[in-house]
This record gives sequence, structure tokens and C-alpha cells, in this order.
Amino acid sequence: MRQLAQDRSMAGNPVKITDTTLRDGHQSLMATRLRLEDMVGIAPAMDAAGFDAMEVWGGATFDAATRFLGEDPWERLRTFKRLIPNTPLSMLLRGQSLVGYRTYADDVVDAFVARAAEVGIDIFRVFDALNDERNLARASQAVKRAGKHLQLAICYSVTEEGRLGGPYYSLDYYLSKAKRFEAMGATSICIKDMGGLLAPYDAYELVTALKGAVDIPLQLHSHYTSGMASMSVLKAIEAGIDGVDTCCAPLALRTAQPAIEPLLFTLRGSDREPQVELAKALEIGDYFEGVLPKYQRYMESARVSVIDARVLDHQIPGGMMSNLVSQLREAGAIDRLTEVLEEIPRTRRDLGYPPLVTPMSQMTGAQAVNNVLFGRYAMVTGAVKEYVAGNYGAPPGEISAELRSKALGSAQMSDADAPATLPPEMDAARDAVKHITTDIEDVLTYALYPATGMKFLRIKHGLDPMPDEMKPIEIAQKADGAGRSTEAAKPPERARSRHARSFSVYVGGERFEVEVEPNTPQGGMRVSPAAGVSASPAETASASAADSPAQAAPSAPAGMATEASSDEAAVTAPIPGVVLRYEVEVGQSVDEGDSIVVLEAMKMENTLTATATGTVKALVADVGATVAKDAALAIISIGAD
Ligand code: CO
Repeated sequence: MRQLAQDRSMAGNPVKITDTTLRDGHQSLMATRLRLEDMVGIAPAMDAAGFDAMEVWGGATFDAATRFLGEDPWERLRTFKRLIPNTPLSMLLRGQSLVGYRTYADDVVDAFVARAAEVGIDIFRVFDALNDERNLARASQAVKRAGKHLQLAICYSVTEEGRLGGPYYSLDYYLSKAKRFEAMGATSICIKDMGGLLAPYDAYELVTALKGAVDIPLQLHSHYTSGMASMSVLKAIEAGIDGVDTCCAPLALRTAQPAIEPLLFTLRGSDREPQVELAKALEIGDYFEGVLPKYQRYMESARVSVIDARVLDHQIPGGMMSNLVSQLREAGAIDRLTEVLEEIPRTRRDLGYPPLVTPMSQMTGAQAVNNVLFGRYAMVTGAVKEYVAGNYGAPPGEISAELRSKALGSAQMSDADAPATLPPEMDAARDAVKHITTDIEDVLTYALYPATGMKFLRIKHGLDPMPDEMKPIEIAQKADGAGRSTEAAKPPERARSRHARSFSVYVGGERFEVEVEPNTPQGGMRVSPAAGVSASPAETASASAADSPAQAAPSAPAGMATEASSDEAAVTAPIPGVVLRYEVEVGQSVDEGDSIVVLEAMKMENTLTATATGTVKALVADVGATVAKDAALAIISIGAD
């Protein structure tokens, strides 16, 4: 392969390029929806382009493949390895959270890393959202044991002043993290600027200092979001950084990485000229120009501007912002966006200034949404409770006393010096899927995502048909009837009624176009007292209400439970989500405040509690079901025994 090298630069110290097109590029710009079938055609050319590494797996790609695409992420990796045999493959691993949103047990970490290494990952970029090395230890050991490249990443963050050198995120903070990571056996270190907040001269200062402090290679991963990344990358190169992350132009810029093509031209003839051929990079770009238009619906942006200059002010990462907008829209509360954006910095301060990166960005965003919709900390997500108990690790700042008392209540504080060590989980996962499969990859998929993972495994093994919305766009088009344009064959959206109105929402001077529709029973499941609940709650959940004609029923109050009748109380979904599990059984006596059901919303677990004392009459929704806002999840007979 490397006979091409003679056509390439003769630079003495070429910048090493990690191409992120097949992972962070489409994760950042098109909600991680790029399908394997649209990558295989260009993979061999990418392999021959001269990249030092290609990031192709991990991050959100695992979740998105199983949840939205009906695609086996393990099969995707195997295919990449076959088509890209010469370029080291890299993945993003969220420390003890792997490719999920919660902390997993050590045996899941060990099994996942071992399997990923076996199937094809050469470089594991491992980070922890709190930069807490204790959360990196287990995954690091597993990577070393597999004999692979361990790249430990430091999340770059800032506080309100927005520059390197704030009260928590000082130069010393980064230097001491880097030294500790080196001592942990890191092969290299990555500065991970997920928010696009690393300013060019700060990059120069930081890289210069880090190069003087550690001996292992240094890499910069940045996002273009605020418009600074190309400049910051160049200053980092001037300061002697060893490697940088870039994307091919069609999936570069905006909230993704800086583009490779202008960087190649910029460094041409210099001592730092990369070994990537410009002609090859252009060819890759042409390919994506051809395949991406059908993904247009995922790439749509309300903004005119390519950059989001407001990020320099509010510091909210692009991915987090688009999540908030779509989640508030689903909850029928898009008009509260401004309040949520104002609440996020307060919630972050209460949490002790965690870096806004997965899962901290989701945790902070979801809690800020709950604070606005239901009152500050009236509904604390399960994740925040765990975080406050110290189970995610140590935040750089202090957790506020108000949050601490509301999240923990009378519960016992765990030892904040030690993140939770969970009991082993793999045996239970094997057991849960054994009626379908014994394949270790399937077991891991389930262990990571019990609800959506199980749904996916049932589809993969032919127990359930693939839903239309998971099918590739062309296939859905055929099933939809011939002769329709690609535009018309978009996956189905929830139908808008003639009552829908279009509004402009202004956030800090930015305009967002939103459509608002009054909530009606059509959107979700409401159980009216007259209808009652039959002896077969599961059937009730999948049938009726959604199809019944609109009634002039009042929409449910924003609380956690709704009166179903004078002697019944319904526990309803305050926001749309997936029913993860019930904590009670039919016939069980419950007291007001007891946990009834756990709802996953905004990728966070929310425990919904009984607002009445009585007996559980029915559990209405199926576990694993997606429910709309205000859907009834359980019925309690008040006072009955
Ligand atoms: Co990134």
C-alpha cells in the first residue's frame, strides 16, 4: 500500500490525520444516520488515501444503528475491517459507559473491549465525561490486555469566562490530567474539544505546555461549531501537535470536524505536510456529494449560517442543542426553549460544572428540561441522582446543596471517593436473550441497551418484522408505492393536523421556525374513566385510543399523575419516552410517592411515582413501548386494598 508514499509529501514531521467522516462526521451533521450500504462503496478508496487512522465506530453509532437503522453495529465493524485492511481503525469509547449512557459493570466493559478489538478496532479513544481517571481504568486495562493503542482523551471545557484558565479548567488542570493519563499507560493523548470552544491561541498555549509535560504523542479532536476549529488546528500544528482529526468536505464544518482539503493545501510543501493525497481526498468528497442528498432530512438546519457563533456565548454543543429542540418539540413544549437555554447554565453550575459531553450533556439538558417543565428538581432524573451520589465520579466543582438534598433526600450518601462498582451484568444479559441467541455480540448489544437492544435482536433474528421507519430510504419507497420521489419517500413523520400553526421562536437573537399543534388524544394513549382498563392491560396498550377519533378531552396537567376517575389515579408519561420497566405488579398495594414505572426520556431514566395510595389496578403499557406525552402507564385504585 505504502508504495504510494513516494507520491506523497517528503515532510520531515507530517501531521498525522485521523479521518472521522464515517463516525463523528455523520454523527455531528446527520444524527448518525449514515448507513453501511452508503459507506462500502468508498471504503477502499478511503483506505488508500493515506490517512493515519480512520474513526469508524463507537460514540453514538452503536445506539443509532440498532435503534434507528435496524443494522448490526458488529457487522458494520467487520465489514469496515474487510474493506479497510491497511488503515488503523479507531473508535470512541465513553470509559465505563462504553457506547451507552450509563455506567456498566466491569464484566461488560471487559467483554465489550475484548470483542471490539477482536472484530477490528486498533485504536481505542477512551474518555470520561468528568475526566475522572477512575472511570477510565477498567477500559484502559482491557485495551492494553488486547494489545491495542490506548488513546486517553481529555475533555476540553471552560466555565463562563470561555477561555483556558478559568477557576476549574486551568492549564494546570490539563497538565495534571495528561501526566496522570500517561502514567496509566496511554499510548497517546487526545484533547477532545467537543464544544468547539478551544480558541486558537489557547490551543497554541495548551499544546505547547502539554508537549513539554508528556512524552507520548498528542492529538487534537475539535468541532467546527463556533467557527474556530480550523484556526485552532493550525495553531496546534504550529505548537507541535502530532495528529489532528478532520473530515472530508461534505461531512465537515458546521458541527463536525474541520475539512481535510484546505488543511492539505495550507500545509503543502511544509515540514508538517500530511501523507494524505489531495486528489484522493477530493475523490472521497465527490462520492459523498453523490450519496448524501437522500439524507437531506437529517441534515436540515433552520440556520442560514454555517457556524453557530452564539456558541461562543452560551457554550451549548451543537448536538445538545438539536436534541433539546427535537425533544421539546416532541413534548409539545418548544415554546419553553428559551427558558431551557437559560436554565442549562444554572443546572450545570449546580452539578459542579461538568464538561458538556455525553452523557453529561444529556444529563444536564434533560434535567434542565425537567426543571423548566415541572419546577426546579421536582423531578430529578435517575442519572442525576446517581451523579449526585458520586457514582459517575468527581465533578471539577461543587454540587449545590439544594440539588444534593433534593436528589438524595434521606437516602444514604455513597462514598463519593469511589464511583460505584456494579455487580456483574453479563450473566443476566446472556440469560435474558438465551431464547433468541447465544452470540456474544448479541449479548453485548442487549447488555448495553436492554430495551432498544432487545427490539433490535428480535428484528435481527426474524422474530419481529423490520418496521418501515428502520428500512433504507429506497426500500421504504418501494413499499410505499412506486413512482414517488425521494422527497416523498421520507420516513413517515407524525401527521400534522390542520390545527398546526407555524411560529417563529427567537433564542438569543436566533430565529427557529417551529410548528406547534394543540395536544389531542390522538397523539397518545389516554384511558378515560368510562373506558376503564380491561383485564389484559398489554392489549389495551397496543390497541384503541390512538385510533379513536379526537375527543375534547382536556390535556393532562404537567404533574406525574392524572386523576382517571374519582376512585382511580393514572400514572401518566409527563414527556414522551420508552417504558423501561415497572417497579410494581398488578394487585400490589402502593403508597403515594412509591416508584411505579421507569420511563426513558431524552436518553435518561425517569422514575414516575404514585400520587395516590391504593392498589395497582393495571399496568397499561408494554415494557419497551414508546409512549407519547400524557400516555397512561399505570392505573391505581385509590384506597382499595
Ligand atoms: Co467529536
